[in-house]
Amino acid sequence: MRPGRVLVDEESISVRLAEMGDEITADYAGKDLLLVAVLKGAFMVVADLARHIRLPIDIDFMAVSSYGVATQTSGVVRILKDLDQEIADRHVLIVEDIIDSGLTLDYLRRNLEVRQPASLEIATLLLKRGIQRVPIDVKYVGFEIPPDFVVGYGLDLVGKMRNLPYIAVMEED
Ligand code: PRP
Repeated sequence: MRPGRVLVDEESISVRLAEMGDEITADYAGKDLLLVAVLKGAFMVVADLARHIRLPIDIDFMAVSSYGVATQTSGVVRILKDLDQEIADRHVLIVEDIIDSGLTLDYLRRNLEVRQPASLEIATLLLKRGIQRVPIDVKYVGFEIPPDFVVGYGLDLVGKMRNLPYIAVMEED
């Protein structure tokens, strides 16, 4: 397989992240906001989105791995790296690159809610339309996309292609 058609180009990503950053800036003004990026995929989104949030935010990272075959989430999530800090009474915004089945975020949300943050919301660059296996309440969505296999801008194919500056649809050779 190889990256084919560009689904979301670099300029569109940049414009949309700036809009999301403006919204987040307005929504969290005066609040202690912690961005929680979910590694590895979200590393690029969080770096660019954070630059558009004009507030003194804090950023932390979680690394999770889902058991299952290469391109499908099983819903069983293992925490490889937990947050470095406590989130009790803080405003937490989880930052994801993509929501597919929704099972990773469903797990993460429940895991973080137990720690009693002041609020817990989700921002994702991409949301695959209509294929979530659990209801997920997402406050900030960059783009709704069809359920194709996509790579780039943090998203990988067996570890590669995360560095593409745009989102491309994988195609057969
Ligand atoms: C991707 C993505 C989300 C998850 C979404 O991560 O970053 O965390 O899958 O899928 P879901 O909605 O079906 O749970 P992945 O497990 O590929 O790990 P990575 O971010 O390290 O590439």
